[in-house]
Amino acid sequence: MTETSSRRIRVALLFGGRSGEHSISCLTAGSILEAIDRRRFEPVPVGITRDGRWTLAPDDPALLRLVDGRLPEVGGDGPEVLAPTRAGSSEWRLLSDSGTVASLGSIDVSFPLLHGPFGEDGTVQGLLELTDQRYVGAGVLASAVGMDKGYMKCVLEAHGLPVLPYVVVGADELAAEAAASVAAEDRLVAAGSRRALDWPVFVKPCRAGSSLGISKATRAAELADAIEFARRHDPRVLIEQASRGREIECAVLGSPSGRPPRASLPSEIVVQGGHEFYDFDAKYLDAAGADLLCPADLPAEATAQVQAMATQAYRAIGGEGLARVDFFYDPSAPEPLVVNEINTMPGFTPISQYPRMWLASGLSYSDLVGELIELALERPQGLR
Ligand SMILES: Nc1ncnc2c1ncn2[C@@H]1O[C@H](COP(=O)(O)OP(=O)(O)O)[C@@H](O)[C@H]1O
Ligand SMILES: [Mg+2]
Repeated sequence: MTETSSRRIRVALLFGGRSGEHSISCLTAGSILEAIDRRRFEPVPVGITRDGRWTLAPDDPALLRLVDGRLPEVGGDGPEVLAPTRAGSSEWRLLSDSGTVASLGSIDVSFPLLHGPFGEDGTVQGLLELTDQRYVGAGVLASAVGMDKGYMKCVLEAHGLPVLPYVVVGADELAAEAAASVAAEDRLVAAGSRRALDWPVFVKPCRAGSSLGISKATRAAELADAIEFARRHDPRVLIEQASRGREIECAVLGSPSGRPPRASLPSEIVVQGGHEFYDFDAKYLDAAGADLLCPADLPAEATAQVQAMATQAYRAIGGEGLARVDFFYDPSAPEPLVVNEINTMPGFTPISQYPRMWLASGLSYSDLVGELIELALERPQGLR
């Protein structure tokens, strides 16, 4: 880093975005603005509006907090931000309302704090790859696979990682017909896992997050409505057998110089307050919606297995930088530990599981942010 050693490293924090998780991304950006080590890093907040305009946002964490149950939004009042359009250029620009273009200066690295489609799914990563911009976290393929629960399960299974039985309903299928064929078990030959689904099942948009569009169906008659509900977020839908297991999570962090990724101590989510599962309200709005136990109280062998499977899942999708791997743990089930999902840009406020697991493992929030940026600066660019 000789070029940047004499000045602070300029980090574009990309947040907000076009997905249903816009506001959650704003919360993350606020936390990072507050905690980032400003002796080493100069954050440049780039807020992406819900309709996809990149704008220079105020460097003010107070504007990006949950206030009286209201989630924050990107205001979009600042000048438009133009990422480089030429490979090798690190100069970002500003476009005013009147059409004047000014320089935003050189950006050393971007931190896509984006959750959901058009951000966590490889699209923004592809835009940055096209012009050799350095960025934190997973690349194009890992982001895309991690985003799509159908392909994710397929890749995890192919790497020998246990997942629950599931089927995918394609965008071209009518909900009622898909529901009937799943209920009649016609689908299982075509299904990823080729195993019968027992009731109840969870019905989820393939590409969403924060539990948006997820519902539980306890019998065949509820399935078509559940598919339609998921389709508010994504035409492709995953139907998956319900687990009675405990919800266990594990944080994975890349290591410098190609050394193996690290796994944190696992944590556990215990849903409270009458929520049927870990839904959007229990996650973000109801302070008593869940107990987050960190580290999780697990037998030593289960902890070791969670950690091993978390890094296997990270490698399976080709992860880089960070990921949170979520499990169901039910010692009475034939397969006690199954992977539920991998998130390549997990919730990242100081009270989110990912940073808390690292804190419990000895790494503070601001040191974690620093490590992620360092990893992005040292990794090779292009095909790697
Ligand atoms: N197969 C399942 N069995 C039991 N609970 C589930 C299942 N799938 C999802 N859930 C519940 O729904 C929540 C959200 O589902 P998840 O697959 O993690 O989607 P998201 O990407 O929105 O977090 C989980 O944390 C869990 O509480
Ligand atoms: Mg989840």
